[in-house]
Amino acid sequence: MMNLKTLFGQFLLLATTVTAQKTLQSSPTLACPSLDNGDSYTQSEFLSRLANECRYDRLLLPTYLSGDVVYVHASAYVYFIQPAEAHDLNFKLHFLLQLRWTDPRLAYALYSPERSKIIGESDLRQRVWVPHLYMSNEQSSSLMGTDSKDVLISIAPDGEVLFSRRMQAVLYCWMNLQKFPFDEQTCSMNLESWKYNASILRLMWERDNPVRLSSELHLTEYSLIDYWTNESVVRGDIVNMRLGGGRSGNYSALKFTFKLGREVGYYLMDYFIPSMMIVAMSWVTFWLQADAAAPRITLGTSTMLSFITLASSQAKTLPKVSYIKASEIWFLACTGFIFSALVEFAFVNTIWRRKKVVNLKKVNSKYILKSTLTPRLARKELQKELQESSPQLTKSRSCSSLSQNHSTDPAGPAYNNYLTVHSFPSALNLPTITTQSFDELISSQGMNKQQNSTGSEGSDPPPKNHTWTTMTPQEIATWIDKRSRVLFPLLFIFFNIIYWTFVYCL
Ligand SMILES: *[C@@H]1O[C@H](CO)[C@@H](O)[C@H](O)[C@H]1NC(C)=O
Ligand SMILES: *[C@@H]1O[C@H](CO)[C@@H](O)[C@H](O)[C@H]1NC(C)=O
Ligand SMILES: *[C@@H]1O[C@H](CO)[C@@H](O)[C@H](O)[C@H]1NC(C)=O
Repeated sequence: MMNLKTLFGQFLLLATTVTAQKTLQSSPTLACPSLDNGDSYTQSEFLSRLANECRYDRLLLPTYLSGDVVYVHASAYVYFIQPAEAHDLNFKLHFLLQLRWTDPRLAYALYSPERSKIIGESDLRQRVWVPHLYMSNEQSSSLMGTDSKDVLISIAPDGEVLFSRRMQAVLYCWMNLQKFPFDEQTCSMNLESWKYNASILRLMWERDNPVRLSSELHLTEYSLIDYWTNESVVRGDIVNMRLGGGRSGNYSALKFTFKLGREVGYYLMDYFIPSMMIVAMSWVTFWLQADAAAPRITLGTSTMLSFITLASSQAKTLPKVSYIKASEIWFLACTGFIFSALVEFAFVNTIWRRKKVVNLKKVNSKYILKSTLTPRLARKELQKELQESSPQLTKSRSCSSLSQNHSTDPAGPAYNNYLTVHSFPSALNLPTITTQSFDELISSQGMNKQQNSTGSEGSDPPPKNHTWTTMTPQEIATWIDKRSRVLFPLLFIFFNIIYWTFVYCL
């Protein structure tokens, strides 16, 4: 028992003396390695002496003695920019970032006048002070390199340090897709100082060509329109965050912005031109007979379906934003056109199936539409007018009623397609005479007088120059189809003019 205690005491004593010796050895009382005759050392030996802990603290700023601002000059060489798919709202960047600053503590011209440069990779980076920068809009970033990270540091005799690193980063870019796919996007890379505020460390772009782009830069879906750089100061303190004396005040920041224009070619060939063709295809219906229900419905629905399929494959690639995009306006308009071609068929087909012949004051769209949309009202109005006007017109009406009787012959009204307008004065009371203008009426009366046939005294002057026409519903349907053949393409061209002007000029 006693023996064990003394043994333990001896052991303790031994342990304390060993630690004491150790601390003695590593105490700073040991002289710093001399830098005299620096040219005789190898590069790594010289550097280990120059940046020895006894004279160099890599946690301290290069200017900690004088308290001056450290100026860090940056430049970048961009190998590659790849905007991600539109719905990701980010882009990938490969670049070489080069930072340049002066560390007076590393100026070795005095000690090693023959040495031109000290160059090293990450091992050298571990020994000297380097500014800590970060990308504030990064999604992810990393140093590139396979075996070891691609870092290069060179120290000039005057203490100027060049620090290069090859990086890849995925950065956020908040795109505005309102004019998609005719949009231009500006995306930027924001570099900020992490540890030191702007009163200590100032970031600057190199004066000449701070950002150079690789000549082989290839952007598949975009074209690079412009790029520029900015220097700024950002507020570092995050409100109500106790950052323990760390981040407070303003921080120096660098920004590299580039403007991308989307290549429209793909969208033109894959979306806009096909959809124009589909809309044009829906007009074929106007050349089919109004009672050809099966072909016309098939045409309308199949064009509608194929257009929706085309548009939805397009919309799948886009982010779900709440505002309306230019491509959606196009979609709505094309859907509208195809839909109204279908509606036109329904309208025309309904008219086609009507039995009653329509009397028209004039063959123009106003009266035809009036009589087709409100057939009863139109007929009443017409009758009233006819009764109010001179007795000659009642005669003309009798003519038209004659024609009506004729058209209800066993052949059926649906196939009575001949135009019953005549514009020549005729003395013959053929049943096809259904139109007589006042002038014609009078002149025909004059002729009638001369010929002493159905003569009546046309003494009262005509109040208006009227032309009375009768049209069968089938004629009206065909008339509407014929007008639609022109109207629909014209409206579509008009819409296109407005759309493309809006897209390219605003
Ligand atoms: C950034 O720089 C560009 C060109 O140098 C300039 O047009 C733009 O106004 C600057 N932006 C800011 C926010 O300073
Ligand atoms: C930070 O910058 C803003 C203007 O950019 C300035 O008003 C403010 O005083 C600055 N703050 C500090 C602590 O320097
Ligand atoms: C900047 O940082 C230094 C040291 O980290 C600090 O003393 C100084 O107050 C800071 N400046 C501002 C404006 O916060």
